This record gives sequence, structure tokens and C-alpha cells, in this order.
Amino acid sequence: MTASSSNQYDVIIIGAGAAGLMCAATAGYRGRKVLVVDHANKPGKKILMSGGGRCNFTNLNSTPANFLSDNPRFCISALKRYTPQNFLDLVERHGIEHEEKAAGQLFCKDSAKDIVTMLLTECDWAGAEIRMNTSVKGIAKETNHYRVDTSAGTLTCESLVIASGGLSIPTMGATGFGYEVARQFGLRVLPTRAGLVPFTLHPELKQQLAPLSGVSCPVDAACNNHHFREPMLVTHRGLSGPSMLQISSFWQPGDALTINLLPDRNIHDDLVSLRKQKPQSTIVHYLAQHLPRRFAQAFNDIYGWSGPLQGYRNSDLEQVSETLGRWTVKPAGTEGYRTAEVTLGGVDTRQLSSKTMAALEHPNLYFIGEVVDVTGHLGGHNFQWAWASGVAAGQAV
Ligand code: FDA
Repeated sequence: MTASSSNQYDVIIIGAGAAGLMCAATAGYRGRKVLVVDHANKPGKKILMSGGGRCNFTNLNSTPANFLSDNPRFCISALKRYTPQNFLDLVERHGIEHEEKAAGQLFCKDSAKDIVTMLLTECDWAGAEIRMNTSVKGIAKETNHYRVDTSAGTLTCESLVIASGGLSIPTMGATGFGYEVARQFGLRVLPTRAGLVPFTLHPELKQQLAPLSGVSCPVDAACNNHHFREPMLVTHRGLSGPSMLQISSFWQPGDALTINLLPDRNIHDDLVSLRKQKPQSTIVHYLAQHLPRRFAQAFNDIYGWSGPLQGYRNSDLEQVSETLGRWTVKPAGTEGYRTAEVTLGGVDTRQLSSKTMAALEHPNLYFIGEVVDVTGHLGGHNFQWAWASGVAAGQAV
């Protein structure tokens, strides 16, 4: 089958998400004839649901150290050439009000819709076309172009960009499409797993923590030589909140988490001096001074600490402080792709150019965004990767 000239493009991008839209605008401004194809009914769905509906669109402190990859140096070039400040400048040119929440984390003041509107406006100004509700049936490399068979007919292009994201939140249109394309063209796909995802617990601990559902407290959570000092949230399913999401990206099934429930205190010294000053005081009193009351009581009940501190020997206090400072939890698992913010692993970056995101063996085939084995920490880093890799490819296609 031959495609009519109206179906011939310089660049076809599969995926109208963060990376795909950014790439489309960048390529369009260079005068390339660009089409974005997506099977979902509207573009940028994940942007709309991100950051609690206000999109944590970048992180001013983002550095390559905020990313996980089997090939950690790969992301350096793109991140250096398109920085958080570059994206912030774009946001400000569009008059989008924003605010810094935790250090460096920039959110829309009003709604994540502003970011999608901005990207669609940029695509429009750049002359890039977007076709939603269009599924891709197959891709083939022909002599000097790619053929893309879609539900809307056959299209051809010189450069093909895969921006179809990872596996997280399948209900939002996530598919393993990008990995299949990579395999079709002989690229390695590193094993994928859910990242930035809440933990589930074994029935006994889940039941013990059930009364704490909805309680949050600042902790330091560690696993496999990584640690994050951020809030933890107990939910009716298990453990969530920023510290748990962050550490989940470093957790493997069977691993235990070590959680310091009072990271700002020297627990042992506190307890020894409290025993001296107020011998009638109790562990639960101490806990309630530093943790939400409900948490203090439930945690105390789990460990059965009772009686005044004067009845505790030094070795008992050491054990209590070990329990509080190094609370060890072996999660049953994670909530998986159903609620994960990102997919770890993906297209092996050793087979891509770090400058252009093109496959080394197929110079006109590009992979950008989450489909690639580059995953950010929580806090705006994943969008920064989507923008930076999208721009890198957009300048090359
Ligand atoms: P993205 O998933 O955005 O886009 C892929 C597109 O490809 C989708 O439109 C999809 O429909 C389309 N597609 C998939 N398969 C296809 C197929 N077979 N055919 C055609 N089209 C196909 N990050 C951050 O930095 N700050 C934040 O605040 C948040 N918050 C957040 C909340 C939640 C709930 C989630 C799930 C994720 C986040 N993230 C985040 C992560 C962030 O959303 C993610 O890293 C980026 O959206 C990745 O951008 P991509 O463009 O690579 O994929």
C-alpha cells in the first residue's frame, strides 16, 4: 500500500504525553512536518492527573543524581542542554502561575491543565498536527522511510519517535507498545518494574496498623544503601507517602525497609534523660511528644510498652530506641503498575545516542521519555526527563 502525500510526514511521534508533545513542538519550530499519534481520547492525560492535579512540572534542583538507570551517565547530556530553568521560562512566557512547594519542586498554582494547554499551544504555533483516538497496528522500515499502519490509515515518515511511556496506570492508556517496537528493531529492553509506588503489607502488620490509616509522620526510610527523609503515610492498604514512594524505586521483593520514626531525635539519650527527670513518664508519653497521638498509641500497643520509665533498664531503653530508630518492615509487595507513578527499566540506553535519543543501529528511530531506562526520583524529575529527552530528539529529527 502507498501513502498519499497528505499522509507523508517528516516526523511521526507515537504518544501525545509529556515527552511526545515537547518533541513535536521542538521539531515543528524547525520547520519539520510533524504528526503526533495517540490511541487515547485526549493528550497529556498523565500530566492532568499529576501532582494531585497541579502537576509538579519540574524540580529546580534536578541533577543526574536524581535518576536511576542501568547506564547512569546517559541522561547527563540531555538534562544539561534543557534545564529546569528552560522549562520554567516556557511556563512563565505562557503566564502560568506556579509555586515552589518542597525545596525546588515547582507546581501549577491553579491546575495541571495549564501545562497541557501550554504544550498544545506550542504544538499549534509550531504547526505540529495531533491525531487522538488513533491506534497503531504496525510499524515497518522501508527503504528510506518508516511505514506506520494506524486505525486512520497508512502513514509514512522519515523519522519515527516512540514516546509511548511506560506501564504505570494502564487505565490511563499505558501500554508496553514502546518495548515491543524496541524489540522489533533488535533493541534490548531491560526488565521493567513499578516505581514510586505504595507498599502493601502482610496481613498481621496491616491489621495492627489499620487504626492508623490516614496518619502521616516524617520519617527516614532506608533500603539497599539509599534513604529518604520525607513523610510516610499509613493507608488502609499499607505504607505510602513521599518517603515510601521514593524508597520503593530501590526496593526488591523480599527486601526489608529500615524506618527511623524519629529522625530528628537521639532517641536513646532522650529516653535516658526523661527517665532521670520524670521517672513516672512512659514510652507512649515520649512518643506522643514527637509523633501524631494516634500513631504513638498504636505503635506503643504493637510493642506492648507499659509502665513508668523508671522500670526500664538501660538495655530495655536501648531496645526501645532500636525499635523506633530502626523499625524494620518487610513489605508483602507493592501496589504495582495500577498506582505506580513510573516504570523502572525499559529501552536500554546503551543502544541510544545520548545526544539525540536515536537508536545507534537505526538512526531515524528515536525513543524518549519514560519508555527509556531513565527514571527520576519523586518531585518533578520525571517530567524534567520527559521535557529534556523530548527536546533532544526534537532538535535532531
Ligand atoms: P506519558 O505516559 O505521559 O505519555 C505516553 C502517551 O503514549 C500517552 O498519551 C498514551 O496514551 C500514549 N500511548 C501509549 N501506548 C500507545 C499506543 N500503543 N499507541 C498510541 N499511543 C500510545 N512526574 C513528575 O515529574 N511530577 C509529577 O507531579 C508526577 N505525578 C505523577 C502522578 C501520577 C499519578 C503518575 C501516574 C505519574 C506522575 N508523574 C509525575 C510521572 C510522569 O507522569 C511521567 O514520568 C511522564 O508522564 C512520562 O512522560 P511520557 O511522555 O514518557 O509518557
